[in-house]
Amino acid sequence: MAAATRIPEAHEPLLGQRDDLNLPPEPREKIVVNLITGKRQSPRLFGVSALLLQVQAALILQPTSTPQQKQLGTHIHYGIQLASILCFLGAFIVIEINKRGHPHFVSLHGILGLLTVIFVVLQALVGVAQYFLPVTIFGSVDGGKRIYKYHRWSGYALLLLEAALFLAATQIGILAIPTWSVVLTLILILLGLGTRIKKRKLGLGNH
Ligand code: HEM
Repeated sequence: MAAATRIPEAHEPLLGQRDDLNLPPEPREKIVVNLITGKRQSPRLFGVSALLLQVQAALILQPTSTPQQKQLGTHIHYGIQLASILCFLGAFIVIEINKRGHPHFVSLHGILGLLTVIFVVLQALVGVAQYFLPVTIFGSVDGGKRIYKYHRWSGYALLLLEAALFLAATQIGILAIPTWSVVLTLILILLGLGTRIKKRKLGLGNH
């Protein structure tokens, strides 16, 4: 029975490892250059960081009770969400630059990515309007506060959209990790956040 034999690459010794040849190390790009050119990991790094930050930003408000906690929590929420948006935009821009000449938004992951970026920016604009500009945009501070409930609903819906975006990434193999580990991670994230939601804050029941 013939065993499958790996044929060495031209630069490899027939026996032994590449290191045995005492060749100089392969040139490595600085991570900053890699982040901007996006040749290797940057869209993945940006994407995973964006999701991680978004989850942390929601957790920081789950729960807040005193006015001081609410104020501090919302300021931290705002700062983390801004960092998260920069990561989403970073991932999106690097992919679009690297796709020059190739068709855009053809896969489910591509379409969900575009929707996510649009939704994230709109969500943040509403967040800023309701909290920092309630009188100008909604007529009064209470008018701004009435929007909080919808911002929470859409914030959690956005997290579901992001979960679908990551699942769709496994279909085209760009995460380079097994699908089951992505599914398990997403389930744990959604359970962790979901069980901490105060139904009352979504306008449902008294809890
Ligand atoms: C894409 C960006 C954003 C997402 C995904 C998002 C998501 C969320 C979520 C899920 C909640 C509910 C947390 C809870 O259960 O209490 C929330 C609450 C809130 N967010 Fe955002 N948010 C974003 C951006 C912003 C920004 C930029 C601001 C500006 C200050 C903001 C202000 C608020 C406020 C005031 C609340 C309610 C706080 C409270 O319950 O006292 N959000 N957001």
